[in-house]
Amino acid sequence: MEKALIYFDNAATVWPKPENVYRFMDEFYRTHGVNPGRSGYDLAMEAGSLLDRLRKRMTRFFGGDEDASDRLVFGYNVTDALNLIIPGLVSSGDHVITTNLEHNSVIRPVNHMVRDHGAEATFVPFDSAGFVDPEDIARAMRPNTKLVIINHGSNVLGTVQAIKEIGSICRERGVTFVVDTAQTAGIVPINMKEMNIDVVAFTGHKALMGSMGIGGLCIRKHVEVKQVRSGGTGVRSIHPFHLEEYPWRLEYGTPNMVGVASLWAGQDWLDENGIENVHEREMRLAQRLVDGFRRIEGAQLYCCDSLENHLSTILMNLEGVDPGDIGVMLDVDHNIATRTGLHCAPLVHTQLGTLPRDGGVRFSIGAFNTEQEVDAAITGIADIAQWAHERAAKSRCALANA
Ligand SMILES: Cc1ncc(COP(=O)(O)O)c(C=O)c1O
Repeated sequence: MEKALIYFDNAATVWPKPENVYRFMDEFYRTHGVNPGRSGYDLAMEAGSLLDRLRKRMTRFFGGDEDASDRLVFGYNVTDALNLIIPGLVSSGDHVITTNLEHNSVIRPVNHMVRDHGAEATFVPFDSAGFVDPEDIARAMRPNTKLVIINHGSNVLGTVQAIKEIGSICRERGVTFVVDTAQTAGIVPINMKEMNIDVVAFTGHKALMGSMGIGGLCIRKHVEVKQVRSGGTGVRSIHPFHLEEYPWRLEYGTPNMVGVASLWAGQDWLDENGIENVHEREMRLAQRLVDGFRRIEGAQLYCCDSLENHLSTILMNLEGVDPGDIGVMLDVDHNIATRTGLHCAPLVHTQLGTLPRDGGVRFSIGAFNTEQEVDAAITGIADIAQWAHERAAKSRCALANA
């Protein structure tokens, strides 16, 4: 029988999902797969009710304004959400502060605002441990700074940023603070009020345990966002322009109701398991992985000397081996799935110095990984290191004999 795949690519998408998520998606779509909010019959109202209840539930989950849960809006994923919020907040002449830790879903929309719409941007570097110093954010502020946008947890290094402190600097200066929670929502507690966050951008398919194709924004009451797309909303059809009021201001067309069902069931799973428990278990496995890699000659680890304020995402390389080749050998010889390369976050690799070697190998541990799988990963890397060592010895020998 073929060996089961060992999946360490949970930072790309958490997989598998909990059984109750699959079950509820199937059940909901079979029994309520009608268009919500478009029609007045009972079934459409019931479908719409799940959508509205999920807005409330997730607003509470993020510590947003519970009396304004219509400001929890859904889109396809966090990339989609960021592409709404960045141009929705920034205009020509505005300055944006972001960081070298960002994913392309922030870097590119910010760069487009600069190149195409006359905005300015500063990319703040991280320190040698993978953290952005809040004081560097404060120093980057200009009189025209409109937005600070940063990821909560790095998808490359796994470091978790001092969001509350950065938020407090933004609050003092009246600058809007947006947090990309792609890697943390569902794994690190988030409370917008306590952490001084104005807007959370989230994606459904990672630790929120939902499906692909759903994500969104949770926007505090005081934040003004321009609407940048338009289309059908299912209400006030006679109106010639897109509606100003939430949630329609930032929602367009038929919602992904199967995704809504998945997030609802994902919330049930998180309530039942407790996000702190899930995180603690993942971090125990991450520590085991790091300890194992440290024993391997030639293994290079990045920004994980301490796993405090860290996710279970570990970036590594092996001396003398291309990271892409490591990924292929792990897959072919050990049936282990990782993500190699630049991880859609080129500035991280530019700053780390890993760009010329094409990035690194990322192991991202999820809720369903086991100690045995971690041990298999350590053995896999040890085997590849041994192979690399022998290859280097042979080539030295060949050179000496030449
Ligand atoms: C930090 C971060 N931001 C944004 C994204 C984009 O997520 P999505 O593809 O769900 O839009 C990712 C995905 O890996 C990420 O890790």
